[in-house]
Amino acid sequence: MTTIGFIGSGRIGGALAHLAVVAGHDIVLSNSRGPESLRETATQLGTRARAATTTEAAAAGDLVVVAIPIRAYRQVPVEPLRGRVVIDTLNYDPARQGAVPEIEAGDTPPHLLLQAHLRDAYVVKAFSTVFFKHLPQLARPAGAPDRSAVPIAGDHAAAKAAVAALIDSLGFDAYDVGPLVESRRFAPGTPAQLAYLDPDGMFAAPARPASAADLAALLDKAS
Ligand SMILES: NC(=O)c1ccc[n+]([C@@H]2O[C@H](COP(=O)([O-])OP(=O)(O)OC[C@H]3O[C@@H](n4cnc5c(N)ncnc54)[C@H](OP(=O)(O)O)[C@@H]3O)[C@@H](O)[C@H]2O)c1
Repeated sequence: MTTIGFIGSGRIGGALAHLAVVAGHDIVLSNSRGPESLRETATQLGTRARAATTTEAAAAGDLVVVAIPIRAYRQVPVEPLRGRVVIDTLNYDPARQGAVPEIEAGDTPPHLLLQAHLRDAYVVKAFSTVFFKHLPQLARPAGAPDRSAVPIAGDHAAAKAAVAALIDSLGFDAYDVGPLVESRRFAPGTPAQLAYLDPDGMFAAPARPASAADLAALLDKAS
């Protein structure tokens, strides 16, 4: 089994951590306030979960999920993530999460920001399109007819394969969209971001499964 480090253990990080524990992975949770604030959550998740600092979570993970507000990206530790596979869940939503000056200035697009910061890590964009409450609703065993596909993008084939294996273990098919730059096709505002929403686009409604074919059609609209 895999050890998964979490930098950010809020809504999306917490939902992924829960699925990971159910799948039998070990997890190391971290946040901005320190391990003490996560002890209860870790205890509730069981013996496979522990709380740590961000540096410890980064160093412990075979794969490391970054799930923090994008404005805090500079606080993701660089050194322990060298050579590691990092899952980038981040979306840019300046109205809700605050503006990032280098994005606003056009220096770096939001979907490339974490890789630019973690120059020597293998960043794979994944799970940025799934509303946290929909994750457990959509997870299915391999081969289920209504299993959903999750778009991924990254520049390193081996890293994408590792992330695809993790995604499979969590109850989804990975749909490889291509290099990291192609993750713009499932960024906020694109049709693929709405893949699992009901036809009225209601987040509160139950999630609607989306197959690889459904996803491909939505991604094509953003080409
Ligand atoms: N919510 C969703 O359904 C969803 C879906 C897909 C993608 N996303 C993306 O995922 C990211 C996280 O969203 P969220 O909704 O999960 O946010 P959230 O519920 O507010 O959780 C954010 C987490 O990040 C931690 N954090 C904040 N600053 C940090 C720092 N400097 N170092 C380490 N940890 C830090 C927070 O810890 P403290 O509480 O200790 O500050 C918290 O655990 C965002 O970029 C969002 O766009 C969200």
